Amino acid sequence: MAISGVLRPGFIQLRVLDMPGSIDHYTKRIGMHQVTEGPDGRVYLKTADEFDHHSFVLRRADTAGYDLMAFKVLEDADLDKFEKRIADYGIAADHVPAGEMPGIGRRIGFKIPSGHRIELFAHSEQSDPKPRVHNPDVWEVEPHGMRALRFDHALLYGPEIEKNLNFFEKVLDFRCAERVDMPDGLLAIWLSCGMKAHDIAFVKYPEPGKFHHAAFDLENWNDVGNAADILTRYDISIDIGPTRHGITRGQTIYFFDPSGNRNEVFTGGYTYYPDLPTRTWDEKELGKGIFYYERKMNDAFLSVVT
Ligand SMILES: [Fe+2]
Repeated sequence: MAISGVLRPGFIQLRVLDMPGSIDHYTKRIGMHQVTEGPDGRVYLKTADEFDHHSFVLRRADTAGYDLMAFKVLEDADLDKFEKRIADYGIAADHVPAGEMPGIGRRIGFKIPSGHRIELFAHSEQSDPKPRVHNPDVWEVEPHGMRALRFDHALLYGPEIEKNLNFFEKVLDFRCAERVDMPDGLLAIWLSCGMKAHDIAFVKYPEPGKFHHAAFDLENWNDVGNAADILTRYDISIDIGPTRHGITRGQTIYFFDPSGNRNEVFTGGYTYYPDLPTRTWDEKELGKGIFYYERKMNDAFLSVVT
């Protein structure tokens, strides 16, 4: 496990069609809190269990989908180190000044082979609500909605994921916890920068830059059931679940925000140590890998993206 370098997912920015409906979805239903609205209209959200300024950014646009995902690095000098490694690899990084997002220091950004923008940043202010650090209660602000603990990971769809794998391993020091190999080549990868089974994942898809889901961690399987109750009570479109993944072993439910962006709430998954081997799946058991109980994929999982 890296003691310097990329620490963990920091935040994701998604495009939404309906800002008030989206804010209601992510705050009232998923259980996040709105931190602030920026001068350009972007809305910044976090869970009450996160310290950093925000973990989720919504931008009003005419199409739903993915703008960027940012990973936090340990210290400012790591940004220079990674900028050089990225440039040496042959990818150009650009600079985003401190304050372009409220509470966030300078960032570097770059486009990976699948067409997605990834950013790195070292500094975030803290914002309320956040956990107390001295004699802390299990929560400071009473949990509501699905009781999301944190923004956990994203699954992105695009071409050239073999190149993504090479870049994330060689340049950003991620490791591949699991992969799916089909007769015609690599279909999917789950990449970790810490001790979770994945922090970002990719599935091969012809169109670049597509978004499959952003996932929130829940405390336990009962909370996945609570999330299912909320989805039915408020008539929110469900993709699949509650069920379990063979890949990562997470217990999960997938659904859609008002703009059609897929969300996941999940719990569990194994601890990934950096010396562990990559677990591999093939076409014969892929259904069980994706949905362990159903043992087959639903059509939407492979085809519905924003
Ligand atoms: Fe996921």
